[in-house]
Amino acid sequence: MIGALKKLEVDFRGELPLVSNLDQLEALKVKYLGRKGLFTSVSGRIAELSKEEKKLAGQAMNRVKLLLEQLFADRESLFKSQAISSEKKIDTTMPGTFYAPGSLHPLTRVILDVTQLFERLGFSVVDGPEVETEYHNFEALNIPPNHPARDGFDTFYLENGHLLRSQTSTVQIRIMEKVKPPLKIIAPGKVYRPDATDATHAFMFHQIEGLMVDKDTSFADLKGALLAFAKEFFGSKTRLRFRPHFFPFTEPSAEVDIFWEAQGQWLEILGAGMVHPNVLSALKIDPRAYAGFAFGMGVERIAMLKYGVEDIRQFFENDVRFLRQFE
Ligand code: PHE
Repeated sequence: MIGALKKLEVDFRGELPLVSNLDQLEALKVKYLGRKGLFTSVSGRIAELSKEEKKLAGQAMNRVKLLLEQLFADRESLFKSQAISSEKKIDTTMPGTFYAPGSLHPLTRVILDVTQLFERLGFSVVDGPEVETEYHNFEALNIPPNHPARDGFDTFYLENGHLLRSQTSTVQIRIMEKVKPPLKIIAPGKVYRPDATDATHAFMFHQIEGLMVDKDTSFADLKGALLAFAKEFFGSKTRLRFRPHFFPFTEPSAEVDIFWEAQGQWLEILGAGMVHPNVLSALKIDPRAYAGFAFGMGVERIAMLKYGVEDIRQFFENDVRFLRQFE
């Protein structure tokens, strides 16, 4: 009988590797260890043995049974873990995991919208430095040292005598230094002013500067360009109001208001005017042959109007609950 058990073990070991899934394994278990299986029929023969032999045969039976059960359990857990890992296998036909790529900041959105609109009117987008010379921020813009107009454009000064530009009008100068008219440029960027922060003021904000210089550029061209912009950006019923104002670098100058239907009132969105002859002459552009218009609009201001934002600080706080509204 011990020999029969040994044969059973060898047969089982031989058959086990041929099994390739859990169902086959279960069938093998029934064949060997089931109630009417091979183990039961072999071990039934113990009744025929003498007392001495029974003892040895009993030990062999236990050993073989435990062994078979162990081999069976090992194989079973192997199949189960394979089943799980095959479930986890990558199905390349499934849609991938989507990671939101983020979206443009509302100020970036506004800058892109406005500059693209002026590009359609024939303006080229240009850039200028934020760290500027006093000359570009003041003198070249017809604001001499000690002139009271400096107050309105006061800024942060660096130890090396440079400063952070307080207006993008500096780019007008930088362009006219290099490029001779006719020219049409639009220049977005950051500006700095030592203003106390509140709902409508920040020490850093954005402007978009526009400049056109040509032989017969007139105030009508300025009005036409700005009205085209306003209607496209705020809607076709938009009305503008030009209010006389003073800027040292334009003459005549105006502040331009937009009529805000929701609130039934005029709101200032930009400063503008005809480029001052002193500015042109200093850059060796003959003011009798050429004329130019310029404007500078506050990006935060028009973004606040367009989207109904009530506090300028929300643009800079990086609160995703605010930013998500613009996705
Ligand atoms: N630079 C002016 C400001 O910051 C705006 C302006 C630009 C006015 C161009 C006239 C012409 O307020």
